[in-house]
Amino acid sequence: MFGFGQLIDKLKKSPKKIVLTEGTDSRILEASSRLLASNFLHPILVGNPDKIYDAAEESGFNIRGSEIIDPNNFDEMDKMIDLFCELRKDKGVTREEAEKLCHMNNYFGTMLVKMGYADSLLGGATYSTADTVRPALQLIKTKPGNKLVSSCFILVRPGATGDNEVLAMGDCGINIKPTEDELVEIAEETIRCAQVFGVDPKVAFLSYSTDGSGKGDDVDRMRNAAIKTSKRNPTIPIDGEMQFDAAVSPKVAQKKYPDSEVAGHANTFIFPDINSGNIGYKIAQRMGNFEAYGPILLGLNSPINDLSRGCTASEVYSMAIITAALK
Ligand SMILES: CC(C)(COP(=O)(O)OP(=O)(O)OC[C@H]1O[C@@H](n2cnc3c(N)ncnc32)[C@H](O)[C@@H]1OP(=O)(O)O)[C@@H](O)C(=O)NCCC(=O)NCCS
Repeated sequence: MFGFGQLIDKLKKSPKKIVLTEGTDSRILEASSRLLASNFLHPILVGNPDKIYDAAEESGFNIRGSEIIDPNNFDEMDKMIDLFCELRKDKGVTREEAEKLCHMNNYFGTMLVKMGYADSLLGGATYSTADTVRPALQLIKTKPGNKLVSSCFILVRPGATGDNEVLAMGDCGINIKPTEDELVEIAEETIRCAQVFGVDPKVAFLSYSTDGSGKGDDVDRMRNAAIKTSKRNPTIPIDGEMQFDAAVSPKVAQKKYPDSEVAGHANTFIFPDINSGNIGYKIAQRMGNFEAYGPILLGLNSPINDLSRGCTASEVYSMAIITAALK
């Protein structure tokens, strides 16, 4: 798979620890056993050790050597609750509320990252996106210079000549309808993520209009965001607004947007909202035979990612590597 070799090499040079919040889930256990067999990414499973070992035995996975941390038997719980209260002091969180949240696997795992027990976190095999992402938004927060947490998907399709085709799409998972400035931040983070996967980004801001062919506030929003992003990143080809056909088909691009360096060759797509983004990446995945990795959260202080509840063990393994390598 394109990109994974590089990501694993990166982790081998600097091995990392990742928190997996759903320690008893069989897909998490299978992925953990594969990670434990390698030496580049160390899983920390959250949950009751007896229950986790029972579940591992039942599903036949060897998780010997994994670190297990139990929220109900954690030496540093008082320290964790103190830190939680400090982090949420402006929100009027009481100590009782903090204590309750710190005993929930999603908040507990996020606090483990905050306290430096691990570099990253992967959750969401059973939790909803909101329940995985919210603790990160509240406790890990955006990195310096960023105002927004957003997300992208990396799409990979094996090519006929053995080379893989790799695309990036953002934001298909977090922000419902980003403003012009939010789109600029989403684009810049999506570009950075695409580069981690070896993509040389050619960035298309997508719309129902190409280079002024249609009218409307959403057209202006995409065009203005493209112009702003391009001004801030003059060495990267960035254009828009444009329709998807103009973005990917050289023939259509010739007719609709002949002056564009991006049109016809785009590999990094910025969607106007979560509806188009989420539908768009799923069309590529289900009808275009692309493998979809994500949503990869962008803009956080530490990498935290959300699995789909329908995920497979192999997707957990891949997402764990992606998450850890983003640190
Ligand atoms: C991500 C999401 C869950 C956040 O929702 P929420 O928890 O209800 O958000 P809230 O407005 O209550 O905000 C919670 C905190 O997160 C912060 N926050 C919310 N969205 C944020 C963003 N995009 N970037 C940075 N911080 C954000 C808020 O400022 C708030 O922080 P505070 O408590 O310190 O003030 C919500 O945007 C969402 O549901 N998005 C769609 C997810 C989805 O269904 N995706 C499709 C499947 S992939």
